[in-house]
Amino acid sequence: MQIKENYSLKALNTFGVEARAKYLVELNSIEETQKFIKSDLFLNNKFLLLGGGSNILFTQDYDGVILKINYKGKDIISADENNVYIKAFAGETWDEFVNYCTFNNWGGIENLTAIPGNVGTSPVQNIGAYGAEVKDTIVSVEVIRIEDGEILTFKNEECKFGYRNSIFKNEVKNKYIITSVTFKLDKQPKLNTSYGAIKEELEKMYLEPSVINISKAIAVIRQNKLPDPKVKGNAGSFFKNPVVTKEHLDTLLLKYPKIRYFPSDNDFKLAAGWLIEKIGMKGKTFGNAAVHNKQALVLINNDNAKGKEILGLANLIQQKIKEAFDVELEIEVNIV
Ligand code: EPU
Repeated sequence: MQIKENYSLKALNTFGVEARAKYLVELNSIEETQKFIKSDLFLNNKFLLLGGGSNILFTQDYDGVILKINYKGKDIISADENNVYIKAFAGETWDEFVNYCTFNNWGGIENLTAIPGNVGTSPVQNIGAYGAEVKDTIVSVEVIRIEDGEILTFKNEECKFGYRNSIFKNEVKNKYIITSVTFKLDKQPKLNTSYGAIKEELEKMYLEPSVINISKAIAVIRQNKLPDPKVKGNAGSFFKNPVVTKEHLDTLLLKYPKIRYFPSDNDFKLAAGWLIEKIGMKGKTFGNAAVHNKQALVLINNDNAKGKEILGLANLIQQKIKEAFDVELEIEVNIV
């Protein structure tokens, strides 16, 4: 275990903003973690859990200890003719895990191709894209209880998954460290090509629908729309798509007949990217921060932006959206 002091976090967050951690500890195994959470350094400081750093915005230095979770590995727990149960450790890179599964023709997470981040944070915000959510493939989530170092398992139903939401973001935040996630994947996959441009992209690429081909098509769709964090720092969608009632939607439709919306349980989810584009903010810069010119839901670090500048732009957007549509835009990224 290495303990680093006054450590630059620039390379550890996909926004690429500069901020320093008083302490950074990289944890490579469960045993090492169980030991560390009993140490004085841990007990005497506040702490923050960091995975791939793809859903976080540092707006200031962190005056505590950051735990970087690096547990690696994946094990096939069991398999039959229809399914494979696979346990992947928290520090595995999400997209490498997806590629491994799609290469084996195991279906269920192919629509979640090319999402930045690690396996261990995928259940926290219930990552989703192109008509799929990770919750539909998760059997259980294994954790260390910080209080006493016990290993526990949360079954899928206990994770209280919702749209970009789970128990790990709410009731039990900072009480557990996720060590691994067990997935149930399909050997006879039901393919989902109904969302957006997947079918068109497959046709353009002369590919038949299959697990691996859907994954390839989605990688291309994402590449065309979403900025590569290695080139322009970003954390994917900065906001959640807001949910409004039927009455609210009807009022909005009178003024904005072209508003983009989707049914969501008994309510309606508005496409936040559409709203942001409508108020004229798409592609706009604000100091060194900007709204991505191909997907207005994504904020980018144009050139050495400070976290505060990016947050300033986000707050400006929230205020304008409130004025124009009477809608509260909720920030999806963790602000530190
Ligand atoms: N739209 C616009 N202007 C924009 C962006 C979008 O008019 O600048 C419209 C599009 O025309 C489309 C609708 O909004 O009709 C929805 O756009 P898109 O399909 O790009 O999806 P999204 O709702 O903006 C969500 C997820 C993304 C995920 C995509 C694709 C959230 C917060 N975001 O975005 O997830 O990749 O669907 O399934 O739900 C992420 O969470 O980081 C993320 C990138």
